Amino acid sequence: MNNIVEIKDVTISYRENVALKNITLNIEKGTSLAIIGPNGAGKTTLLTAINGLGNVLSGSVKVFGVDITSQTRKKIGYVPQSSAIDSRSPISVRDVVMIGRVSKIGLFRRPSREDKEIVESVMELVSIKELSEKPIGHLSCGEQQKVAVARALAQQPEIILLDEPTSNLDLKSQKEIIDLIDKVYKEKKLTIVFVTHILSHIPSSCKEAVLMKRGKIVWFGDIEKALNKDLLSELYDCPVEIIKRQYA
Ligand SMILES: Nc1ncnc2c1ncn2[C@@H]1O[C@H](COP(=O)(O)OP(=O)(O)OP(=O)(O)O)[C@@H](O)[C@H]1O
Ligand SMILES: [Mg+2]
Repeated sequence: MNNIVEIKDVTISYRENVALKNITLNIEKGTSLAIIGPNGAGKTTLLTAINGLGNVLSGSVKVFGVDITSQTRKKIGYVPQSSAIDSRSPISVRDVVMIGRVSKIGLFRRPSREDKEIVESVMELVSIKELSEKPIGHLSCGEQQKVAVARALAQQPEIILLDEPTSNLDLKSQKEIIDLIDKVYKEKKLTIVFVTHILSHIPSSCKEAVLMKRGKIVWFGDIEKALNKDLLSELYDCPVEIIKRQYA
């Protein structure tokens, strides 16, 4: 088995508040994994652990078979839960996407022709080329979310972590982002870890799920089995009805 992420007995806290308790999880290379659970379950904290951040009290996190260093972090793209951008920010969409190259080229080196080509190609993939000259602050939430995905892809990561990328979006934008995640998965053959607590927002490419509650992994397995009335009612402490996967 080719595990790209190996989390072993990890406990993470924010000062005295323990957010993850003795978590063990292996993620296979090339997997598309959904992390599901109610507010405060520890989903974002789990992503930060994979991204080499977080106050790890005990246990170990290995990515690509080694302890996480600044070098390994370059191969991990991260789309944060909220990327509120000041609407007065004058920086263009193209420049925001170029930020994704900074970890590769360094802060003070000029982007090469190859860097520029990579930025253009990810903007093409994410369908934001026509927005490239616009100031980032002038974009809608959904458009900004696409830019955040493009910025992470410009890094040419081997793993991409997406933390609730459809929150605050209208139905059409939700569908566009879900379709985009599927497209990225298929075209780039990345390992994708995708966080949500809205069950209709799971891309069809996600084949496995982790269910989290109160800082623990309570279930791990096939996504189709995870979308189970009894399992989810217990997870969310309220009755859940399964209708069908909205975007399958
Ligand atoms: N910066 C912080 N300082 C203190 N406690 C925090 C901090 N961030 C998160 N926590 C706590 O850690 C726990 C897990 O939070 P986390 O953000 O990982 O949950 P989540 O599953 O991502 O929730 P949500 O669905 O609301 O995004 C919660 O109890 C939360 O209050
Ligand atoms: Mg969160």
